[in-house]
Amino acid sequence: MSKYIHVSVAWPYSNGDLHVGHLAGAYLPADIFARYHRLKGNQVLMVSGSDTHGTPISVEADKRGISPREVFEKYHERFLLTQQKLGISYDLFTHTDTENHHRIAQDIFTLLLERGFLYLEKQQLMYSEKERRFLPDRYVEGTCYICGFTSARGDQCDNCSNLMDATRLINPRSKNDPTDALIVRESEHYFLDLSKFADVLLRYLDRHESHWRPNVVRFSRNFIGEGLRGRPITRDIDWGVPVPLEGWGDKRLYVWFDAVMGYLTASIEWAKNIGQPDAWKQWWYNPEAEIYNFIGKDNIPFHTVIWPAELLGIDGVYNDTNGLSLPYDVPANEFMNIEGEQFSKSRNWAIWVPDVLERYQPDALRYYVAATFPETHDSDFAWEGFYNRVNGELLAAWGNLVNRMLSFAYKRFDGKVPTFDALTEADQAMIARSEAAFEEVGTLIEQVRLREALSVAMGVVREANAYLDGRKPWTTIKEDPADAARSVYAILRVIDNLNVVLAPFLPFSAQAVHEYLGYSGQIFGTQSIVEYQESERPHKGLTYDGSAAVGKWKKRALPQGQALNEPKALYTKLDPDIVAQEKGYLGQPREEHDIVV
Ligand code: MF3
Ligand code: ZN
Repeated sequence: MSKYIHVSVAWPYSNGDLHVGHLAGAYLPADIFARYHRLKGNQVLMVSGSDTHGTPISVEADKRGISPREVFEKYHERFLLTQQKLGISYDLFTHTDTENHHRIAQDIFTLLLERGFLYLEKQQLMYSEKERRFLPDRYVEGTCYICGFTSARGDQCDNCSNLMDATRLINPRSKNDPTDALIVRESEHYFLDLSKFADVLLRYLDRHESHWRPNVVRFSRNFIGEGLRGRPITRDIDWGVPVPLEGWGDKRLYVWFDAVMGYLTASIEWAKNIGQPDAWKQWWYNPEAEIYNFIGKDNIPFHTVIWPAELLGIDGVYNDTNGLSLPYDVPANEFMNIEGEQFSKSRNWAIWVPDVLERYQPDALRYYVAATFPETHDSDFAWEGFYNRVNGELLAAWGNLVNRMLSFAYKRFDGKVPTFDALTEADQAMIARSEAAFEEVGTLIEQVRLREALSVAMGVVREANAYLDGRKPWTTIKEDPADAARSVYAILRVIDNLNVVLAPFLPFSAQAVHEYLGYSGQIFGTQSIVEYQESERPHKGLTYDGSAAVGKWKKRALPQGQALNEPKALYTKLDPDIVAQEKGYLGQPREEHDIVV
């Protein structure tokens, strides 16, 4: 029976290009997972979008002397192009400045208020007399009062991931001007009353902890264990979703309060876009549906506590039957460092996805990042590793198996899949091995153990190479052409199976191999950038038609005699010089190039 799988992917702040940390943390794992489930025949809805609000956007706008809207529109457009090039197959990638998102976020605020889950309180906040305004979140920095990290931000400490109260930071200073003497001043705000949800949230964790990653359980339990206090969900800023109340014109909803709602608002937008306005309920009001939140570890408390609390608080508003679904799993990844050092935008210690895609194949990048996913601990992107794994694994094992066998078959068997009378037992065993990979790899993907899944699949690829070396059709074709035909058929059939098993990881090469084998049509489906017209403002999104993929995750029966297409080399061999060259870009000033698709 087909399942309903919602793939909720963290919304990137659209204040700069995507870097490999984004990819490794959330986007690539989510895409592999979604592609697998579509092949499996499940009903997948994968959504995300640009996080357009909050101080990350305004800080960038101030720095460049342009408006927050100009900042987010520029990078939203670049996100669409980059992710299309990389094949991140969202059913909808939208943004949080749509009328749809604003309206629903405001409705949810109003509902939480009516139901008594919000309360008003006067807060002491950091105020700059020089700038004559309250300094929100990321405009304030100081020493973390929990771990002692000296560059904690007003909203969160990047060292210990704890959420911060800016007024409690030690030696607080303004990001704009460290000499600005900040004062503490009073301002009134709405708070989400998390304490009302503490018991329910603990029971929610109890129900799920056996299948959640240990770090996610630990972090969430500690967060609740420290006592759930109310969290302010409005801010003294002018960029964000307006507070839907009279007299609140100079305040906005807090970015994290509205951003997480994006999973729901984008689902609703998607349903509207496809002309079936109720379709989103199949995931959100279906107790059998499973919602997966793909995020980086710094986002854990927002997804295991705050977002579930918001959902619990509004449960019923869009409701027909049961309550709204809470995340079924929150497979947060750790961080991916760069050449042994932490990512830093200001130092340009970063690997930017649009730049890398100008120089390398998307599947080469996908392969390396997936093989080093930081699923259980921080990992490292090293160019030496990229070079070794692409040439030594992707190309030497998979590319080589495909290329040598397909060119041989194409040349020596008249451009067709060979025909034969019977396979040897060993041939059958090798085919069975490749068929078993569906179950083995599929189970790991379902458990979101993607790095292991890829490594198991590559293990079977290596077995197939060894098998081919033993069968030697290039020799037997002279003395025993019937045996050569058998062995070539067997290996082609193994390739056909492994190609589908690897397809969630390597969608572009999978399509090529599919065609070399003589199949027509698409393995997955097509992605496109679409302009959506709301009542006033149009906005662009990335969308995907995945109907082609449905049900393809199963052993294949390559027809004898099927006409092949002339194969080309699957992957470009990397030159050893790229290692030094790429390392040379790190830490140097970078120029943003136009993204050409
Ligand atoms: N914009 C946040 C970040 O980049 C992530 C938001 S995830 C969301 O860290 F779901 F809340 F949108
Ligand atoms: Zn800290």
